[in-house]
Amino acid sequence: MINVAIDGPAGAGKSTIARAAAKELGFIYVDTGALYRAVGVYCLRNNITTTDADGVGAVLENITVELKFVDGVQHVYLNGDDVSTEIRLPEASMAASNVSAIPSVRAFLFDLQRDIAAKNNCIMDGRDIGTVVLPNAKVKIFLTADPEERAMRRFIELQEKGSTTTYEEVLADLKVRDYNDSHREIAPLKPAEDSVTVNTTGNTLEESIKLMINTIKEKM
Ligand code: DC
Repeated sequence: MINVAIDGPAGAGKSTIARAAAKELGFIYVDTGALYRAVGVYCLRNNITTTDADGVGAVLENITVELKFVDGVQHVYLNGDDVSTEIRLPEASMAASNVSAIPSVRAFLFDLQRDIAAKNNCIMDGRDIGTVVLPNAKVKIFLTADPEERAMRRFIELQEKGSTTTYEEVLADLKVRDYNDSHREIAPLKPAEDSVTVNTTGNTLEESIKLMINTIKEKM
């Protein structure tokens, strides 16, 4: 199977760009952030403090997370419920960032990610795909952009969904998450040694997609 690992900070355009590239290549696109978000949503629903490693660790045995692909579109199920929409709420983002720093949560989601990659040609995006989950991925890309530009993209996305969150709030949130994701002890966000860095600041989406597809094709 051919595996492409894409890592990078929140809002770099990973999902949009990776999804388009996967379509072009005929691969499935796997968004691993959705798995951490599903665990975060479970905690929010059940009033579990997402920064409490022991508390979160203790409820993992009550959680089943599944990914299903319907016409190439990923759906994430939490104990049988499709939570694909709920996981995108801002509170789910912060909950996901918190639970993703807990080692037992990462271990819990590890096999699921490995299994999908073993069975499918895929583009998998996350924070530690090239460094931890798929160290032997054929292609590894570190996709990034300046924080202000990433926050603006996320802000526009949220506005389209009717959210009243301000740009300043989105930027502040994103900076906290960047810091958490890259400073945690376990599987911190960083480029794999054998990755290619793609910076999309100032690019249109079409330019970024083209750049991504060309980088993947060159590497393959
Ligand atoms: O990509 P995203 O914003 O949906 O990810 C949500 C959170 O999950 C993010 O704060 C970092 C974490 N995450 C992770 O630690 N490892 C991954 N492979 C994917 C996401």
